[in-house]
Amino acid sequence: MGIRFMEKEKLFKLDTPGTSYVCAVVEGFLLHVYYGKTISDDDVRYLARIYERPFTPSVNNRDRGSFLDTAFFEHPTEGVGDGRSGCLRIETEAGHQGCELSYAKHRIYKGKSGLQGLPSTYGDENDSETLEIELKDEITGLVTTISYSVYDGIDAIVRSVRYDNTGKGDLYLRTALSLCLDMDCNDHELITLHGSWARERHIDRSPIGYGRHEVSSIRGESSHQMHPFMAVAGRNTTQTQGEVYGFSFIYSGNFTAGVERTQHNSLRCLMGINPTGFSWKLEKGGSFSAPEAVIVYSGSGIGHMSRTFHKLYRDHLICGACRNNKYKEAPRPILINNWEATYFDFDTDKLISIADEAAKSGIEMLVMDDGWFGNRSSDNMGLGDWFVNEDKIKGGLKYLVDEVNKRGLKFGIWMEPEMISPDSDLYREHPDWAIAIPGRTATLIRNQYVLDLSRKEIVDEIYSRIKAVLSSANIEYVKWDMNRGLCDIGSYALSGDRQGELFHRYMLGVYKLQQMLLDDFPDLLLENCSGGGARFDPGMLYYSPQIWCSDDTDAIERLAIQEGTAIVYPLSSMGAHISDCPNHTVGRITPFETRGYVALAGTFGYELDITAIPQEDRDQIPGQVEMYHKYNSLVRTGDYYRISSYRENGYNDCWMVVSQEKSRALITYIKVMSRPNNRSVLIKPQGLDPDAEYRITCDKRVLGIEYPSIRPFSFDDLSGEAVAETPESEALNVSRGFILHGDTIMNAGLLINEDSPDMNGDFKGVLIELEIL
Ligand code: GLA
Repeated sequence: MGIRFMEKEKLFKLDTPGTSYVCAVVEGFLLHVYYGKTISDDDVRYLARIYERPFTPSVNNRDRGSFLDTAFFEHPTEGVGDGRSGCLRIETEAGHQGCELSYAKHRIYKGKSGLQGLPSTYGDENDSETLEIELKDEITGLVTTISYSVYDGIDAIVRSVRYDNTGKGDLYLRTALSLCLDMDCNDHELITLHGSWARERHIDRSPIGYGRHEVSSIRGESSHQMHPFMAVAGRNTTQTQGEVYGFSFIYSGNFTAGVERTQHNSLRCLMGINPTGFSWKLEKGGSFSAPEAVIVYSGSGIGHMSRTFHKLYRDHLICGACRNNKYKEAPRPILINNWEATYFDFDTDKLISIADEAAKSGIEMLVMDDGWFGNRSSDNMGLGDWFVNEDKIKGGLKYLVDEVNKRGLKFGIWMEPEMISPDSDLYREHPDWAIAIPGRTATLIRNQYVLDLSRKEIVDEIYSRIKAVLSSANIEYVKWDMNRGLCDIGSYALSGDRQGELFHRYMLGVYKLQQMLLDDFPDLLLENCSGGGARFDPGMLYYSPQIWCSDDTDAIERLAIQEGTAIVYPLSSMGAHISDCPNHTVGRITPFETRGYVALAGTFGYELDITAIPQEDRDQIPGQVEMYHKYNSLVRTGDYYRISSYRENGYNDCWMVVSQEKSRALITYIKVMSRPNNRSVLIKPQGLDPDAEYRITCDKRVLGIEYPSIRPFSFDDLSGEAVAETPESEALNVSRGFILHGDTIMNAGLLINEDSPDMNGDFKGVLIELEIL
């Protein structure tokens, strides 16, 4: 890791373990030079494209536009000759929109600064280094400072931008993006995540044609529909080989992520706050910080890109708002949530009956979901009235929490602090606290409005209500929900020339609220949620180590959702629960065991009425609890590898996690479709130590029978411990495991026998554990 400035050539070179990023000052312009696999310092000069004569502005002012329209810029501006989409568009008081940025100065320092009021990655002097380059528009006095940071051992470049108005008049930022990467286009493809409620973050991949291609949100949240992530990959790039550039935006509101394939077959990649609906008045002397964006380059496939994001986010983002929060590292308690168990129909007795049964099975926390406050008997009312409804919670909240604690369970609570129901005392008192355009009836979604969190007095009042609830009992977890997006953008408190700031000011209010919460309750386990997974983004991970992935808890639907989520986010962040069948969203019936395997790839918990599910399901819970304790540290901290994808092949899904030292691994295989004449399926595990010998064990008899010469071993029936090798003939009938070298396992693969009687039935799954001898 390191950042160098080459004075003579005016080149900046940022190195990560496997990549180099180079930019240069050419005739005052900050140009992009190279980003990809590591290159030698000595050769970098060669790459600084010397623009051929007609395109060199100082030589050929006549065709200056040709230069501006083709050069690779680090932070392109709009309005003075670059016809591609830019990062920055400003407007002066006179209504003019041109801006041209020239290099002013730079500084390189150890460590990484935070962003005022915004989530961002963090590092210290020992593990990170930052380059800040200041550019200035001489005419308006707008100073633009671009920050680039690198982290020890991580192939990522983290960027952000600050705008300072040092000019004589006010300016308006109309477009203020966080990142641009120009590159040559070699038939790249665009990978994005799309979805809907209960179907979040499905992977989409398509060739990039000419023109602009964008995913975005104007819903005031990162959204169910599109995601603040994109990757530009070579046409032949797979999980294990080929080039890919991944882009991720550390923000939870409106965003744009897009590419533009130009007339000259270059590709401009842009990411930042969506300019639609955005405008920021930058007063003389004022400054504005655009959120942070991350680029990851991998020359060895999508898998390495994902693992790089996972490492960056695990080590330098998650719990950034509260660095001492124990859940940054510690296992999360296995929770049981009453939403799908009771919906709004519960009281103290019902919750205690769930706690009684949960305690018997080893579950560690009860979470009381929506419906405990105000007049909230359905989702039509009560939001904003954060006072306990003692008709339901008889004896009060403290009594309930104490009773749950007495049974050995922690207690958690659901809240939706950003919202207000028209049928609430809060709304009757303060109708102008809802976001709305004066004189126009605002659109209800789920019969609720959004609070105007751009206003400090509203943030303060809501926070004091939340704090009172959390201080009244031993509450150790909060599920922070947000069940609708923003529209009717109007604030009763902002002046006309600042209404375009509302979306972003709202996000700053949300971040402020969560920061206040964590400052006062530093050991709280916070789980973000938004109608399922509409705000599963890096911004929220700065505050909460986990986010509810989706309201769709069906194990098979979750395969694609969790695969898409894991392309950027570590498994430790994915809220995943076992729910009852037929599944409430899709009606599918899956084995209880398989539901457990899929939830194991996330935070793990239950979302069902444990007092009412079939006895044979309930009987499996203690075993699942044991499984969680056995494997969770591996899942939480290990490296993730995608082995096969049901989304792609239509038949099976397989992923694995490997411990950092490669001494242990866990493979999860799910048979989604049963097929005729399907003797066995070959899977190719990854990430193991090729020279080490691994003991392979499986919870079903699906391995081994295809290999006559393997070294099998058996289990002691009583202790369950592996015993020494047994004669092959016997072992082939009884063994569930054998020993192979890492290279054999990865290169020759493992055969999963789907014909095994253990695999009879729909949607069966298998866990395979590998451990170095
Ligand atoms: C959202 C959440 C659910 C549940 C309900 C309660 O939909 O995603 O898990 O909390 O709200 O209203």
